[in-house]
Amino acid sequence: MFKGALFDLDGVIADTAVYHFTAWRNLVKKHFDAELPDDLEEKTKGVSREDSLKVILDYLNIQVSEEEFAALAAEKNDAYVEALDDLTADDILPGIAKLISDFKHHGVKLALASASKNGPVILDKLGLSDAFDAIADPGQVAAGKPAPDIFLAAAEVINLTPQDCIGLEDSVAGVTAINDAGSISIACGGSELNHAHKRFDSTADFTYDAILKAWQEQAKT
Ligand code: BG6
Ligand code: MG
Repeated sequence: MFKGALFDLDGVIADTAVYHFTAWRNLVKKHFDAELPDDLEEKTKGVSREDSLKVILDYLNIQVSEEEFAALAAEKNDAYVEALDDLTADDILPGIAKLISDFKHHGVKLALASASKNGPVILDKLGLSDAFDAIADPGQVAAGKPAPDIFLAAAEVINLTPQDCIGLEDSVAGVTAINDAGSISIACGGSELNHAHKRFDSTADFTYDAILKAWQEQAKT
């Protein structure tokens, strides 16, 4: 039986992924009068603010100074934080509130393993801060997703080995990070996440029983 659950935030706990990409789109429109294609969103999912901006500038083939880079990242974050203004517990994705309560009931420890520096604020707005035993600090890890660092840190802050944990993700980079950390990856999304140990179509399928079954199947292999 797993002892810990390492949660991604955006796109797993709350439907905030769309706010991130909308903020990038608006920024790029304003500063460069350019549009971002839909398929660029996956390349920024799970990826840190700075790495996301690099992906976007590479796509646009635009070079900026260090100062401009920092100013763009800050402006995007201001817009993103503003979009979070009205976030409440109603924005918790389907199935997640029940899953968290079932995990707690079964003594599973919970850690946040998000790339987002806004993680603590978002958990607070969703009324979930007390449910989590710990939050891994993305500002303290050497490398962002797809590197495993944030999941390794998340297991460590709840005093567990990664092998005793499952990781929950909605991004390609995040699933790779969980796998490389040595945890069992449970994903929600399309076939781009087929590298997960177990993939479901949506968070609504993230039930305690289904996840336990996935863990038990993996334990046999
Ligand atoms: C991840 C998102 O959870 O957090 C990414 O999927 C985002 O899109 C990253 O870039 C960093 O978030 P923030 O809030 O620190 O800019
Ligand atoms: Mg995510």
